[in-house]
Amino acid sequence: MSEDAAFEVVVAAKRRIAEDICELRLGGAGGEPLPAWEPGAHVDLELPSGLVRQYSLCSTVENDDHYRIAVRVLADGRGGSLEVDSLSEGHRLRIRAVRNTFPLSDAGRYLFIAGGIGITPILPMAVAAANRGVPTHLMYLVRNAGTLAFADELVREGLSVDIVLTDTDGIPDLTSAVRSSPGAQIYCCGPAPMMDALQAVAAAEGRSEDVYLERFESPQVAAGSGTTTIRCVRSGVSVCAESEETFLEALRGAGFDLPSSCEMGICGTCQITVVGGTPDHRDMLLTPEEREAGAFLPCVSRSNSDHLDVDL
Ligand code: FES
Repeated sequence: MSEDAAFEVVVAAKRRIAEDICELRLGGAGGEPLPAWEPGAHVDLELPSGLVRQYSLCSTVENDDHYRIAVRVLADGRGGSLEVDSLSEGHRLRIRAVRNTFPLSDAGRYLFIAGGIGITPILPMAVAAANRGVPTHLMYLVRNAGTLAFADELVREGLSVDIVLTDTDGIPDLTSAVRSSPGAQIYCCGPAPMMDALQAVAAAEGRSEDVYLERFESPQVAAGSGTTTIRCVRSGVSVCAESEETFLEALRGAGFDLPSSCEMGICGTCQITVVGGTPDHRDMLLTPEEREAGAFLPCVSRSNSDHLDVDL
């Protein structure tokens, strides 16, 4: 969806649904209907400060007259969740795009695994899957009862669900979970270590192709990607970007005052121009034509060559 498709919404309701999770219902700013969406979709939400954050749409009723999002409020996060938590009814926000990078495919059986706030894309997907009349099971891991969201809805929807309180129950055996759903498509969203563990289990069980993951963390750092020299051709400065830092961080560390917002490759605020080398584009925004013309988002993208020349 392009910037032209952006639209305004208004906060219709806000409430706490767990110790650390707040829920917002968003309606059309002028009362107009909102664009349709499918389970697994998320919005790129522009907050009043200009920060852009991605949030999954988590209504269990597809295409009702509001969007529902749920946000884990992190005091030490990157600021987006605290800003969401400070909103109140009547606040206007802009949705830059509604996208679905985590669609639900047809299957004869489903296993869903959600960790913490990872329940948000999984909830509407599990409800939609169960409504297809095929065996569907949800494993939902939370730290403790205080961080459990949507418990009533899970009951109301009649889902087959195991709720695991990891503080007291420990980490469940993912191998048994995978083995107990033979032939199932497995959809998972949650903390990276949980998803990594699931991938390892699926590989060991020969089920890698059955697994679909939704990762919200910025993919900026690739293990073993090595150092890259960023040559800033206008200023004549060369910057060494280590594998554990983003190119944006490296450039800022060298004194370049570059703006940013989402730091996830979805808003374009940090865009610079590459004039040499082979970029490794990891954003979710730029078109092939824009990349061809040199556009580059250093908050997430890296380099396939040992140097990259940029117009700075
Ligand atoms: S800061 Fe949003 S794309 Fe880089």
